[in-house]
Amino acid sequence: MATYSFRLNGRTVSADSWDAAQPLLYVLRGAMGLHGPKFGCGLGQCGACTVLMDGKAVRSCTTPVSRAAGHAITTIEGLGTREKPDRVQAAFIAEQAAQCGYCTSGMIMTAAAFLSQTPKPTLDQVKQGLAGNLCRCGTHTRILRAVMRASRA
Ligand code: FES
Ligand code: FES
Repeated sequence: MATYSFRLNGRTVSADSWDAAQPLLYVLRGAMGLHGPKFGCGLGQCGACTVLMDGKAVRSCTTPVSRAAGHAITTIEGLGTREKPDRVQAAFIAEQAAQCGYCTSGMIMTAAAFLSQTPKPTLDQVKQGLAGNLCRCGTHTRILRAVMRASRA
């Protein structure tokens, strides 16, 4: 059994695992009790599990827990609070950019990382930035509006 320590939403945590290749997503949802990141495909193809590692969007279903060691992980729980949502969260609320909500956490985390790299994007750039995140409910138009709104906030 090995212990992996990393920063999680601003505090230092440790996770024990028998398997260095165990997906970070399992540790976040299981040992850490954070249910924002979702299991969608488990193959790095849908984006529902997206979290930030040192500010960059990563797929936590295909990121081994051993790779998180020593890094700063941010999940949607660490982005903002109910009382003080981050600008992307606030924009998703304002645009009502969710139906079932399963993709929403991954969309918001991807958008947050994208906007930190591209603060004033065009609509086409937003489309490209979110191209790897799937929404089976077809909420894409509102999601795009929300990200554009966040870029103006
Ligand atoms: S669950 Fe990770 S990309 Fe789909
Ligand atoms: S809102 Fe349901 S999958 Fe996107």
